[in-house]
Amino acid sequence: MEIRDTAAVISGAGSGIGRATALALASRGARIIVADINEAGGNETVDMIGAAGGIAVFRKVDVTHTEDLAAMLACSVEHFGQLDIVYNNAGIGGEDLFADDPGDWAKMIDINLTAVIDATRIAVRELRRLNRPGVVINTASMGGLLPMPGSPIYAATKAGVVNFTRSLAYLAPESRIRVNAICPSYTDTPLVRRSGDERVEAMKLQVGGILQPEDIAAGVVELVEDDSRAGAIMRVTVRGGRDFARDIRP
Ligand SMILES: NC(=O)c1ccc[n+]([C@@H]2O[C@H](COP(=O)([O-])OP(=O)(O)OC[C@H]3O[C@@H](n4cnc5c(N)ncnc54)[C@H](O)[C@@H]3O)[C@@H](O)[C@H]2O)c1
Repeated sequence: MEIRDTAAVISGAGSGIGRATALALASRGARIIVADINEAGGNETVDMIGAAGGIAVFRKVDVTHTEDLAAMLACSVEHFGQLDIVYNNAGIGGEDLFADDPGDWAKMIDINLTAVIDATRIAVRELRRLNRPGVVINTASMGGLLPMPGSPIYAATKAGVVNFTRSLAYLAPESRIRVNAICPSYTDTPLVRRSGDERVEAMKLQVGGILQPEDIAAGVVELVEDDSRAGAIMRVTVRGGRDFARDIRP
């Protein structure tokens, strides 16, 4: 899909990877709905896009609320008259499963997995209703392909996103809707920085460095532009750059 003159909705666009992707798509001529629960961050992204000569609108959403997701997608049609790209990217990290108080770990499943399924479901229905081709991209993680001993719930949510996405490859020939996922390795964003400098240094040692949000944005741009990708699982790593996880055939 050519990005120029498209309309894109990006969740979690008020920070990190979502913001970098919003800027990358806007710089190629997409108009952006910046969707986030964080109003200040979202408005900052809108201002950054505007300052660079692009067009963006902020929409406050909690991705765990179905009605917010529907309103976020409708917002694109209302403002831009169309919907072409949906990037389900909002997510959280940080868990301590075996602590005395393990916290609300179900919330991580709600945000990282359930909301991605729900947003994809609504987006596909909307794109079908509009009778338009579309691209849905979901942010998974290398943690969805490999074990994460410190973050088993996070890993489970991202593995869920990976196989959910793979299972939707059939939509491309049927409805001209391509659903793909991107699996970043550690990326320098507030999500990772919150785990502390020591942990960040350990991550760098483990995987050979840390990615920048723009590296992931470049992957999303590729997944939008390459019409051959459907149900594809793109990995982005320091050592391997961008490549695709292969399906294992039974
Ligand atoms: N940073 C990494 O190393 C890394 C690696 C692999 C995958 N990821 C994934 O990338 C995605 C983006 O993460 P990031 O690193 O840019 O983190 P980030 O914290 O910088 O950005 C996440 C954004 O999601 C928003 N958000 C959180 N909960 C929300 C909710 N309920 N409704 C709406 N918005 C909500 C936050 O407000 C924030 O703006 C996440 O899905 C994350 O799991 C990150």
